[in-house]
Amino acid sequence: MLKPPYTRYDQLHVYNFDRTNLGEIDDPDLIGTWIEDNTAILFFHKEKQALVDTICARAEATILYQAQLDYQDWEAGLDITTFTVPPLTVVPLWEEQQLAKEDENIPIRLDPSVIFGSGFHPSTRLCLAVLTDLLTSHPKKIRTMVDLGTGTGLLSIGAAKLGVEEVRAYDNNPFACSVAEKNVALNSCQKQIRVMETDLRNGLPDTGVDMVVANLYKSLLIDLFQNPDFWKAKYYLISGFIPSMEEELLATLPMDQLKLLERRKSDIWCLWLLAKKAVEGRGMRHAVCGVR
Ligand SMILES: C[S@@+](CC[C@H](N)C(=O)[O-])C[C@H]1O[C@@H](n2cnc3c(N)ncnc32)[C@H](O)[C@@H]1O
Repeated sequence: MLKPPYTRYDQLHVYNFDRTNLGEIDDPDLIGTWIEDNTAILFFHKEKQALVDTICARAEATILYQAQLDYQDWEAGLDITTFTVPPLTVVPLWEEQQLAKEDENIPIRLDPSVIFGSGFHPSTRLCLAVLTDLLTSHPKKIRTMVDLGTGTGLLSIGAAKLGVEEVRAYDNNPFACSVAEKNVALNSCQKQIRVMETDLRNGLPDTGVDMVVANLYKSLLIDLFQNPDFWKAKYYLISGFIPSMEEELLATLPMDQLKLLERRKSDIWCLWLLAKKAVEGRGMRHAVCGVR
């Protein structure tokens, strides 16, 4: 995350340690620590070889790999910049001074850090677009939401800004949870959004809400789809898969209970908007623009 004196990301210095227990690391250039598969990946703004050597000696750790890259390269070669999905304008912190006063959209201030959910991945953008369509054309229809795999928290914040009263946002990556919490606070959404660290493979949060958003990946989606407790919500916004995966995913959906209201695609990424049959047919279908 950005902490003074840093106001943007430029170079990333990445060190992957072979263990997670590295002790306290209090360094002004540390962006954050990503825990994955019993390893720790530390991201810094600057080269940190001396510190890394100290950590290795202290924690009896070994470096599995290290890399230096441009922030743009981490973000798939893209410049993370302000974008609009009406009526929302998403502004990375380093551009907030440039936000035009005459911009009538609702601003979302975002520190994407190195977490998924800057808004520049097609699956995030698709989710945000369908979410804004739904929430603006049917205000108050969706009051409660669960965001599974929240990343930066962008989709939860977008929903809260458009009137969703209660959002529970889950992620298994503690670094993602910290970034999401920071973004929730930056947008004064603490009353509406609770961020929780949870591994969805170890248990499903209560999905008895108006809408579940799940921009995840195929194997986790299949696990969720096969759990009858997943299907307690009224609407489901599902993404994170490509056309070649659709048949396998469709086969695990309880289609006797569901209607596919919309399928959208951007680049190679797909999104489904599903509704429980009991609630579908009250106009929501016309909120969105059909299969694209
Ligand atoms: C594709 S990203 C989506 C992020 C954000 N919702 C968006 O649309 O941009 C998937 C997110 O799910 C999280 N995730 C992956 N596996 C998970 C699991 N087993 N339990 C909880 N979260 C998980 C990842 O850490 C990541 O932040």
